[in-house]
Parts: sequence; C-alpha cells; structure tokens
Amino acid sequence: MRIGILTSGGDCPGLNAVIRGAVLKGTREFGDEFVGFRDGWRGVIERDHMTLDWRAVRGLSRRGGTILGTSRTNPFASGMDDSTVYDALADLGVHGLITIGGEGTLSVAAELHRNGFNVVGVPKTIDNDLSATDYCFGFDTAVEIATEAIDRIQTSGEAHHRCMVVEVMGRNAGWIALHAGIATSAHSILIPEVAESIDTICKWVESTRDRGRTPLVVVAEGFALNTMDSPHHTRGLDTFGRPRLGGIADVLSTMIEERTGIETRATTLGYIQRGAVPTAFDRVLATRMGMAAVRSAHDGRWGSMVAARGTDLINVPLDDAISELKTVPRERYEEALTLFG
Ligand code: F6P
Repeated sequence: MRIGILTSGGDCPGLNAVIRGAVLKGTREFGDEFVGFRDGWRGVIERDHMTLDWRAVRGLSRRGGTILGTSRTNPFASGMDDSTVYDALADLGVHGLITIGGEGTLSVAAELHRNGFNVVGVPKTIDNDLSATDYCFGFDTAVEIATEAIDRIQTSGEAHHRCMVVEVMGRNAGWIALHAGIATSAHSILIPEVAESIDTICKWVESTRDRGRTPLVVVAEGFALNTMDSPHHTRGLDTFGRPRLGGIADVLSTMIEERTGIETRATTLGYIQRGAVPTAFDRVLATRMGMAAVRSAHDGRWGSMVAARGTDLINVPLDDAISELKTVPRERYEEALTLFG
C-alpha cells in the first residue's frame, strides 16, 4: 500500500513518534511505502512531499515538533477548488491517508472520507479536548512543561511577595489549567467551563495572602469572567474561523492589583507548552497510535480515528471524533475548589 501521512494544525509533542510508529509498522509488517506531505494540507495542495522510509524516522520518537512541518491550511476554505486535493492524491498514487491532527484537521479528514477518499485519523492536541479519546498525546508533555514553569514562577513570586497569574493554553477546554494548577498547588484555577466573578477571585487571592502565602492564579486562555460575553481575544481568527485566544492573564492581574492592593504579575506561557521533547507517556501513546493507524488501514477501517480507551486503542468513526468537545466536567472543577484560597 502507498500511504500518505500529514501533520496539521498546531504542533504537538509526539507527532514524530506517530510518524515513526506508522512507518516502521507499515514497512516492516506490510511492505508499505510512505509519502510524507510537508506542512499539512498545504503539502497536498502543492504536491510538496517526501519519501518516508526507516532511515527518515531513525531516532525520531524523542524529537519535538514534526519533521513534516505543519500549518493550519484548510483545503476546503472558501475560494479553494475541492478537486485540487483529490487530484493530487490520485496523481501521486496515494491509496489512503493518515492525518494526524486536532478538531480542524479531523473535520477535513471526515469531509474527504464523505467524498469517498480513504483516510484514517490520529488525534493530536495538547488541549486534550477530543471527546472520542481518553487522552491525546501532547497533553501530558504540555502539563509537565506548564508545571515546571509555574513552579519557577512561584519561587519568584514568593521572593517578592507578589501575586502571580499564569496563563496556559487549552483553547475552550480547561484541562491543562486544571492539571497544572492542581500539580502546582495553585490557590485559584480558572477554566473556560466555569465563569467566576472578579470578587471571588480576589477573595481567594486575599485569603491566601492573609495566611502568609504567595497567591498563585492559574488561568486557561479561554477563561471568561462572569461579566464577559466571550473569552478575551484581540488577535483575530485562525483559518478555521476560531478566535485566537490569549492575554487574559494581563487583564486579570491588573484587576487583582487594583482591587486587592497586592502587587501582581502576569505570565503567559504560550508556545513553550508545545515545545521540547515529549514525555515517556506521550512517546508511548503516540508510537502505539501510529502503529494502530497502519493496522486500521490494512483492516480497511477507513473513515475512522484511532482512540485511547483506558490502555486499549480502538477505532471510532471520524464524525464522532469531532462531534463533541471534551470539556472539564463540573464535578472535576468542584473537586478542585476545596483547594482554592
Ligand atoms: O490547539 C492547540 C493550541 O496550542 C491551543 O491551545 C491554542 O489556543 C492554539 O493552539 C494556538 O494556535 P496557533 O499555533 O495557531 O497560534
């Protein structure tokens, strides 16, 4: 079989391990050939590709980023000719495609499948917000990096007796904030799923200070105060029409300082959360998912996505994979509430 692979959307620790797992499984067990498309769907549209053999994937699982490059190109965005993608895949003799991506990428994959093309999805996002899979690789690494960074920020806050507000990624799901916040003993964790008031946040900050501690607020980029209509965003939209989030930590730190009189500093962790080497957990999950995608192709399970259920890997229909966002359940937030203030 001649199989195409692409990585699309935001980069994510573990992408290279998926590529390695798929190529080694396919070449060793089935004698497959692999075509890697550069920069996601852009590589398909422009027929920019490379051969992936065992040499190309040597030592890859520990490397961050993606050797194929990535982009947020949407081949079905208005103004694009739909046939460009199908013609390119047919001309290159690609029998089926493994698409490694998040919600945006998988919705393009589902569209390809509806139009009769062979495609298998592999879920990727540090946000861990795909409902069809228990875990996405990249999430564990992002939480680990955020935890280490917040620990460092906290020591600086302690030295100056300042309140520290740290913003993490996650788009419309609070998973990274919840996990990194609990891991760093944050005195307040603010997530998109629960709108809090500035009064409540300031109460948590003040009670922490009154106990002689340095207040630490961990906020997800998608959090909105109960007085805001939508999450803070001033950076326009991405190619899938979603707001580019970021900056809520600055907004909150100004409000907290004004209301409590406690000197407050904001840090937005940003892309550091997607960088560097994947954790062992993510390397294992990603490698297994890459191998499972090839197995799925040979079993004819086109139109499906590989998903984690406990320690098993299963296949779910691509349409199910993108139908619902996996957000933090109310009870998980309430569980953490006991730790605030
Ligand atoms: O979906 C992963 C993610 O890192 C989100 O947490 C974040 O909102 C977004 O991507 C940033 O996207 P970009 O790389 O396009 O700035």
